[in-house]
Amino acid sequence: MARETSLEINDLVWPLFACEGKRVRKPVQSMPGVDQLSVDELSREAEKAVRLGVPAVVLFGIPARKDPRGSGAYAKDGIVQRAVRELKKRFPTLVVITDVCLCEYTSHGHCGVVQRKGGSFTVANDPTLKLLAQTALSHAESGADVIAPSDMMDGRVKVIRGALDGHGFQDTPILSYAAKFASSFYGPFRDAAESPPQFGDRKSYQMDYANANEALREVALDIEEGADVVMVKPALGYLDLVYRVKERFGCPVAVYNVSGEYAMVKAAARNGWIEERAAALEILTGCKRAGADWILTYWACDVAGWIGS
Ligand code: PBG
Repeated sequence: MARETSLEINDLVWPLFACEGKRVRKPVQSMPGVDQLSVDELSREAEKAVRLGVPAVVLFGIPARKDPRGSGAYAKDGIVQRAVRELKKRFPTLVVITDVCLCEYTSHGHCGVVQRKGGSFTVANDPTLKLLAQTALSHAESGADVIAPSDMMDGRVKVIRGALDGHGFQDTPILSYAAKFASSFYGPFRDAAESPPQFGDRKSYQMDYANANEALREVALDIEEGADVVMVKPALGYLDLVYRVKERFGCPVAVYNVSGEYAMVKAAARNGWIEERAAALEILTGCKRAGADWILTYWACDVAGWIGS
């Protein structure tokens, strides 16, 4: 009764990876318990989430083919578009959030359009915006409840908001990955999404982990551009920002307990060095205590089982 913070099932968002094929369940080596799932299997997993009371999932797609402009991201019959249609048909009350980014769909693995200049390259901000807006719109048209841009291009929330509003999706909210840091903790996710950059890194568009004031400016810009929920990512090294964002802006705040943070606990638990359930609940309660309203976690269904019974 004296506990100040209670982690609730209603706080959780479960990330899922959709891939092509039928009856496919391809385990991600670096993320025990996480699989790439064909749409039929994805639907089975979603059913589990619904049964356990997990309110929301966030979808990532692994297309059959990748190309330099990431055309699979905004294809009408793309993998995420088909997955959303299926989930919304079967589970109308499940909140389906879609990650909007190009890196899972580009052959070079960057989150935007690459322009080469002599021996070097840049990820071109403005030419990327159009493709992101197209992606967001195609997700909304497929039935996505919330659009979540994770690319970190400047100005993308405004452009996506405009595209949604212009096509009758004024009521579709945007969950912006607002303060997303260039982090080594995304490594296992890039295995899962088959999206490591083929050259260079993401430091020209994702943030320097040393910068907190810059993160607050990024968040302020996204809110001004129309973000409804703002995200801090990763979680563990960044809970100071979750706290500051919540204090300063008072808007709904999400935090992403990312793949590497999950994998570390899994690996230690497998070695008998840490107790998974206790560690996971401690981490996620810490996220809530810091001020997060939505917590994206690969443990979502596990937590629902642990605290729901
Ligand atoms: C796509 C994206 C990434 C993650 C979420 N969306 C990878 C990246 O930016 O490299 C990472 C999630 C995780 O590590 O669990 N841009």
